[in-house]
Amino acid sequence: MKKSFLLLLLAGASTAAAQSAAPLTASLDNVKLTVALTAAGQPTYAVTYRQKPVVTASRLGLQLAHGNGFDGPLVLTGSETKTVDETWQPVLGEVKNIRNHYQQLTVHLRQPAAPGRKLDVVFRVFADGVGFRYEFPRQPNLQYFVLGEELTEFALPADHKAFWIPGDYDTNEYPYTVSKLSEVDNTQLVKGSNDIAVRNAPDAQMVATPLMLKSADGLYVNIHEAAQVDYPAMQLHVDRASHRLTARLVPDAVGTKAYLHAPGHTPWRTIIVSDQAADILASKLILNLNEPSKLKDTGWIKPMKFVGVWWEMQTGKSNWRYADSADTLNAAGQLIPNGHHGATTVNVKRYIDFAARHGIAGVLVEGWNEGWEDWFGNWKEAVFDFVTPYPDFNVAEIQQYAKSKGVQMIMHNETSGSATNYEQHLDTAYQFMNRFGYPAVKTGYVGRIIPRGEHHDGQWMSNHYVRVAEMAARHHVTVDMHESVRPTGLGRTYPNWLACEAGRGNEYNAFTTEGNRPEHETIMPFTRFMGGPMDYTPGIFKLRNYEPEHPERHVHTTLAKQLALYVVLYSPLQMAADLPENYEQHLDAFQFIKDVPVDWDDTRILEAEPGEYISTARQQKGSSSWFVGAITNEKARTATLNLSFLPKGRRYTATIYADAATANWQTNPEAYKISQQTVQAGTTLRLSLAPGGGAAISLVPVK
Ligand code: NOJ
Ligand code: CA
Repeated sequence: MKKSFLLLLLAGASTAAAQSAAPLTASLDNVKLTVALTAAGQPTYAVTYRQKPVVTASRLGLQLAHGNGFDGPLVLTGSETKTVDETWQPVLGEVKNIRNHYQQLTVHLRQPAAPGRKLDVVFRVFADGVGFRYEFPRQPNLQYFVLGEELTEFALPADHKAFWIPGDYDTNEYPYTVSKLSEVDNTQLVKGSNDIAVRNAPDAQMVATPLMLKSADGLYVNIHEAAQVDYPAMQLHVDRASHRLTARLVPDAVGTKAYLHAPGHTPWRTIIVSDQAADILASKLILNLNEPSKLKDTGWIKPMKFVGVWWEMQTGKSNWRYADSADTLNAAGQLIPNGHHGATTVNVKRYIDFAARHGIAGVLVEGWNEGWEDWFGNWKEAVFDFVTPYPDFNVAEIQQYAKSKGVQMIMHNETSGSATNYEQHLDTAYQFMNRFGYPAVKTGYVGRIIPRGEHHDGQWMSNHYVRVAEMAARHHVTVDMHESVRPTGLGRTYPNWLACEAGRGNEYNAFTTEGNRPEHETIMPFTRFMGGPMDYTPGIFKLRNYEPEHPERHVHTTLAKQLALYVVLYSPLQMAADLPENYEQHLDAFQFIKDVPVDWDDTRILEAEPGEYISTARQQKGSSSWFVGAITNEKARTATLNLSFLPKGRRYTATIYADAATANWQTNPEAYKISQQTVQAGTTLRLSLAPGGGAAISLVPVK
């Protein structure tokens, strides 16, 4: 990550403010921050956008478990401001260059009660929002301490429309509810779940971040956090009467919030705001608040498309298990294979062949290693050792075969929630990947966490995910974490941490009837994806009758929308999730998945409204080709795509993968039509999107 341009202006430091009651301010373009101390010594902040209130005077503070914290009256002892304007390049990303331009205000506070502890609050005001965090300077009377609660509030001026999921300590795999803040109640969602994740949302008014909000007068506001390291995830309690959101940190197994030390700091709290929904999706505020890459050598980090022995297991065609149950043993005490094991050498070679034939870089294989007979729901310390294949999975033979075909294997490390066990095996597991040629790993944390029943989103696990990313980097392995805490931009700091799941992926269409409603993917970019890429696993072509035992199950999109997701949902790791035989039925449409890249030089959000529609254009890394994805919710609509992003005077061949006139996610999802036309910067394409539909376009310069 090079710094190509750095401008640092010291705009002023003041200790005079210490005695003054006048509020402190910082602003950039349309965003203005005001920080004040109430008469009672309570620090507050407020944010406006074009003079409209975004967050009205809201409490700041931290309660320490053993008293004398930063929750009582505080004294302002000084403040400083500075402006930073620099541009940096992500290793992988949606754009080539990212401008980091902000005005910083640092506020120094003191706890007057003995022993006079010190706290700084650092604010960064960007053109598209505000980030702030608490910093604990080095001080004699505060070294190691336990946090009782963070007291940060976000007081909203009105009863906004909210796109929310429950604030669950252990999972984000929920469908989104769109409601007024005054209507937030997660009870039915938490109770009504029937999937395999642990569900744990103890308060009916708790919501998770990223939280997307829209005001009646058209302001779009997104609340989340950046750089969540050594600290629990922040969730928000909604006061339904006053629309005040209060931070609540995910506790540890015994209810403690966080173990901290000085010098140190919390993650950044982020408020992104605009009167254009597209600006929320284009924001780089969260990435900008993360630390630059800790890895010096990043040349080995490769984005990837992959297929895998996976959907066939999700849809019940094969299984992770080698045998039917641990009881199915022969006289010699060996497991008897049930004939449904998916990860056999023969089957894996079939996927390798398909990947090689179509230029797909990777093949993921789940269920290759011993342990799947009794891996789930038992809270066992050590289920997997991450290095012992089942007898019908020949790891060396597969390595040779993949190599001969120019295909890369992707490792799967399901931990069954035992992070303790995974940490004990980390070194051998990653050495195994190096030895057998696996440059990437998908991890998973299904079930209750060991140690102790820690929460997936608490401080201990947050540190665990970072330890895994660091260990993977040491072995030049890229990582995709399932059931982890939702991302907060840490992919900037650990560029080998390519993606997380941490949300409700396409897989819910396989193992539940409710699945993901057609609006789901029009909300995800405004919520889950604000923190970073997701392994959503798009690309399902057989959208009905994929599960003989559950003919009522549907994927809630058309086929063309599955294609559009490769552009709309940013990830440097994208699965082509369906089975080779289902792709063989539609090789003309599969061409788009072959062509679409996973790394970009530029991105334009052409039109967007959360819950309704999104159209995104992206320029392929190091190329003049562009790709467009347009999606809608359950309503049919016309996507209006103004191609003014194309370079002037250059003609492009547009290959358009659109819903057929009769397409409909429910009744006719696989009806698409492919057409070609020549377009240029002046062209506006108007494409009909079916209910639950979409369109995908590749734009290649005419030679
Ligand atoms: C849940 C993951 O999200 C899914 O992708 C995986 O196949 C299963 N766990 C088994 O590890
Ligand atoms: Ca999952």
